[in-house]
Amino acid sequence: MSSSTGRTGTTTAITDIATLVTNDPSLGGGSPRSSKLESGRGSPLGLIRDAAVVIEGDRVVWTGESSKAPATDNRVRADGRAVLPGFVDSHSHLVFAGDRTEEFNARMSGRAYSAGGIRTTVAATRAATDGELEANLTRFLAEALRQGTTTFETKSGYGLTVADEARALRLAAAHTDEVTYLGAHIVSPDYADDPAAYVALVTGEMLDACAPHARWIDVFCEKGAFDGDQARAILTAGKAKGLHPRIHANQLSHGPGVQLAVELDAASADHCTHLTDADVDALANGDTVATLLPGAEFSTRAEWPDARRLLDAGVTVALSTDCNPGSSFTSSVPFCIALAVRDMGMTPDEAVWSATAGGAAALRRTDVGRIAPGAYADLTLLDAPSHVHLAYRPGVPLVSEVWRRGVRVV
Ligand code: NIG
Ligand code: FE
Repeated sequence: MSSSTGRTGTTTAITDIATLVTNDPSLGGGSPRSSKLESGRGSPLGLIRDAAVVIEGDRVVWTGESSKAPATDNRVRADGRAVLPGFVDSHSHLVFAGDRTEEFNARMSGRAYSAGGIRTTVAATRAATDGELEANLTRFLAEALRQGTTTFETKSGYGLTVADEARALRLAAAHTDEVTYLGAHIVSPDYADDPAAYVALVTGEMLDACAPHARWIDVFCEKGAFDGDQARAILTAGKAKGLHPRIHANQLSHGPGVQLAVELDAASADHCTHLTDADVDALANGDTVATLLPGAEFSTRAEWPDARRLLDAGVTVALSTDCNPGSSFTSSVPFCIALAVRDMGMTPDEAVWSATAGGAAALRRTDVGRIAPGAYADLTLLDAPSHVHLAYRPGVPLVSEVWRRGVRVV
């Protein structure tokens, strides 16, 4: 069989799939904008029941009813399981050392989360060897893969010196193309008395050292981190160096982050917990995805972002883990899906779309997040008859098999 991308190679059919989530708009799927959707009819997921997928090399070349699957070199039976696109975790902070158990314990006894805790991880990360950081990163990636994540973005932001930020990005770039320069996570403690000088470093020497290793530039736009003017200067400098913007916006309070994200055509505004109607309108009228990170609200006992409000306004929503040692120490996209369904007003179909196609949109990718001819063969198989079980059976390790680039990896 020859694929739509012109490749030839070994073909494998995965057959007898109870429910196949394709996210393929040509099957009646597409972005779940504007209406509350039930699983099945009218779903954004482009569902096929009793389905098969055919893989050739690293790509999907065919989807359809199992009984109509073409002849292939190999055949794998999914035996009544569900198959989804591998999760696209478009927001994580995985290059760090140490943990913040004590801070978490204090929060669970009533203390509020603040950006200041980032300094604890900065100190531990600076003190760590390359080998220690690499070992941590590899451990979290293996954890995420076992839970169905096949594409992930990750950031620097716990180094805050030229050498430590560049080191974090270099380590990350060995594992993913989706690397984000976050020198502007907080003002480095070394510049506590002169934030303007730190912004000059982030937009100057540090940017020069980091840009070759990164695709994206991010800034934590928040009280206690960077204000709107500083964030604009940082993202604009990054754009001039060929990096694309994304923003930590409106996490802990109302602020200018979301409006700035849309103004600068950022791929994503992340967190979006505290939004005005004008923020929601701006997102609905722009091309910036709202990435919601319920692990952060869970782990900081904060108010949930209102996914329903965003979806009803026509905003494209992504769901990601924000995995980091301070505000959200989970690598589990299934856990985030369950939270989003239970507490953020999403249907199971919407949450699964947001954790796959939504994550891809937040990374401006069309080759992942869907199971359709031409896309990478990144697949997650569940020990369950449908994707709905991710929310229906929270906390249960349902992921039974993971394929990445056409190869079974779990
Ligand atoms: O996305 N908000 C800023 N950064 C992280 C938290 C980092 C930390 O507390 O270490 C976040 O939640
Ligand atoms: Fe984050």
